[in-house]
Amino acid sequence: MTTRNASQGILADENSETREHIVELLKKAYWMSRETVMSYITNSINPDGVRAQEIIESLQQDIQEELGHATEFAKRIKELYGVVPGSMDFKPEQTYLQPPADQVDIVHVIKGVIEAETGAIEHYNLIIEETEETDPVTNDMVIAILRDEEGHRRLFEGYLREYQAEGKA
Ligand SMILES: [Fe+2]
Repeated sequence: MTTRNASQGILADENSETREHIVELLKKAYWMSRETVMSYITNSINPDGVRAQEIIESLQQDIQEELGHATEFAKRIKELYGVVPGSMDFKPEQTYLQPPADQVDIVHVIKGVIEAETGAIEHYNLIIEETEETDPVTNDMVIAILRDEEGHRRLFEGYLREYQAEGKA
């Protein structure tokens, strides 16, 4: 008894190279969303002050969404015959989302979130481009995730505008 391989599409034997390339892009996306979960937990708990509450609540919601994204990326890696990496492979990159010197510095957090979302948006756009012709399932999944990230960024751009209007950012 042999297992039947898909004869067409991204799971076909002849597409193994393309598949491996997509798996690498998905691994990066997986780590980005995992690190974002870490950074958003940090930055949803540290801030002090009345105005920080809105940011805290917003980040708490994002944590759940980002965790959902990470899980989707991981599942897709598996479906494409890849292996979801272990924690020893993790390399942190979000220097801009480290705790500020002063915990009332909410502008630091807002700018960090915008930078994280912008990085995610760039990488997800790349995956969408790269899978356009080859992998409609990954393409579709990442388009939906991209929409969430664009929503997050827009929300935090709005928070930043309020501080900019007061000359505080
Ligand atoms: Fe996000």
